[in-house]
Amino acid sequence: MKPLSFCLAFLVAFPVLGHEGPDPLGHWTGRSDRVKEGKLMARLGPDGALSFKPRFIKDKSGESLLFEGAKAKCLLAVDFKTVLKSLPREALTISAWVSVNTPREWGGVLGVIQDNGDKEKGWILGYDSSTFYFGLATAGADDGDGKMTYLKAKTKYRLGKLYHLVATYDGEKTKIYVNGKAEASTTAQSGDLLYPEAAPYVLGAYQDSNEFHPHHGRIREVNVFGQAAKAEWVAREFAHNEALATEKWNEVEPSFEVLVDPYLQFATKTSMTVMWHTSLEASSVVRFGPTNACRQTAEGKASAIHEVVLEGLDPETQYFYRVESRTAAGTAYVSEPATFKTAVKEETPYAFAVISDTQGNPKVSGELAKLAWGQRPSFLLHPGDLVSTGKNRDHWLKHFFPGMRPLINHVPFYPVLGNHEQNAKHYYDYVSLPDPEYYYAFDFGNARFFMIDTNQKVDPASVQFKWLEKELSASDAKWKFVCHHHPPYSSDENDYGDLWKSNKGRHGDLRARELVPLYEKHGVDVVWNGHIHSYERTWRVLGGKAVESGGPFYMITGGGGGGLETPAPTRPFFQNNVRRGHHYVMVHVNGGTLELKAFTLDDRLFDYHKIE
Ligand SMILES: [Fe+2]
Repeated sequence: MKPLSFCLAFLVAFPVLGHEGPDPLGHWTGRSDRVKEGKLMARLGPDGALSFKPRFIKDKSGESLLFEGAKAKCLLAVDFKTVLKSLPREALTISAWVSVNTPREWGGVLGVIQDNGDKEKGWILGYDSSTFYFGLATAGADDGDGKMTYLKAKTKYRLGKLYHLVATYDGEKTKIYVNGKAEASTTAQSGDLLYPEAAPYVLGAYQDSNEFHPHHGRIREVNVFGQAAKAEWVAREFAHNEALATEKWNEVEPSFEVLVDPYLQFATKTSMTVMWHTSLEASSVVRFGPTNACRQTAEGKASAIHEVVLEGLDPETQYFYRVESRTAAGTAYVSEPATFKTAVKEETPYAFAVISDTQGNPKVSGELAKLAWGQRPSFLLHPGDLVSTGKNRDHWLKHFFPGMRPLINHVPFYPVLGNHEQNAKHYYDYVSLPDPEYYYAFDFGNARFFMIDTNQKVDPASVQFKWLEKELSASDAKWKFVCHHHPPYSSDENDYGDLWKSNKGRHGDLRARELVPLYEKHGVDVVWNGHIHSYERTWRVLGGKAVESGGPFYMITGGGGGGLETPAPTRPFFQNNVRRGHHYVMVHVNGGTLELKAFTLDDRLFDYHKIE
């Protein structure tokens, strides 16, 4: 008698929805009798194509469709414009019964959305790693390319439990309700709903042109109206099925696993940052101390990507640490103990490894990282292109992090962004660096490192150029090192003009070369670059000429895993040592003496240079 009970609900709702009564545009129920040949048949609105094998979970009075798997979604329309009749225009109500089995930062229940950089249009009912949200863009808040407001509910959801969610928008006010109660509202949006130029209409996923996050959990029912429901209607809708909210958890346990084992970030003389990534939100605890009993405890915010800063440590001291994460349901992950050492004092010798352009080749980058770890560096410098595709989370999970172990759970890595990072959120989620993270500086021993993002502007009027100029002139460090992805000097054969076809090569990245006057003026010793997948060490370069003293050396160490490149056929003025082949570099510093050693993939020394 489901249809009749719904009619009754609507009749009751009639007077409070608005003067013209309810105006249902879409209605889907996750019942097995509504699924035919891979399609979810709508009661109203477009039918949806399921991209996963449907399973159903029974409850006291019905059942839900369980969304699961990496591809899970129900596609209502490839382009929402083909189903405009079924979409709200001026006001809306979305009412849904759903459960979440795996928290996601961007979980989606129902939406039409494009949220890419500043371009923000459409609407979506969804959830983040702890609560529900409703995102909306309207004509009244349009800043030229759309602007979304994400209104978050207060209830922290429990995994596997059904919740009644309602979002309403009446042209002036946006509200979100959980289990019949209004939890948040905003007047940031006004006027007609603002739809993107193109977007899919999707049930059970957050999807726009560059992001896809499948829902894992139940969808029991979803309704879309073209008007804004009043609080009384929402309360009544919830009351109608209230028993669902008190049912026990879903039998289907969410899986809990570690996705990235512990690794280290940003060492100082008195602190170290420990990070790791679990598949669900869980507690963030680090046990540490002078012995592998790890008797001291530091706790960070519960999350999926964990970040705990250990403070008050002694300088150049070895510590042991291990991490623990426990979910609300009590499942735990405990890592093996590992060591780290805090940054050394200025007078103490140290060494660091340089590996760049690791990209999607964990076999080679893993071998290089193992060889580097064998030489016990104090840290790793990474001049960019950590992964092949920054926006692909799997490239971080399956290529970069496994490849860099065990090095990065014993020493911190200091990266800059390469072009392959795509300035992706994953990069910023996984690193812990001083704001704004894309450029920063750090000290180690008697050196100061200046880290720049050459994917962004570096011309003399740019933020980074001005910052660097100020930082370099203020620094009295014994050694000044700069690191950025693109090389100001390179004899690569075809990235900067094809020298096999003409002799008009640019011999390096001209944008990055705009930084060179700063290096020459402020006594930078070595500039570390990647991007070109080969090895190159220059002579000192000053004023566009090779010199014996006074200018910086330029180092390209891009043979960290990415497909190899070949040097140009003839030798440019700056070239000292060039070599095609995968490699890593070790740099040893003792006061005013620096030794640089470059090694092949079979650990053969192929370049040695001493600077005094
Ligand atoms: Fe690159």
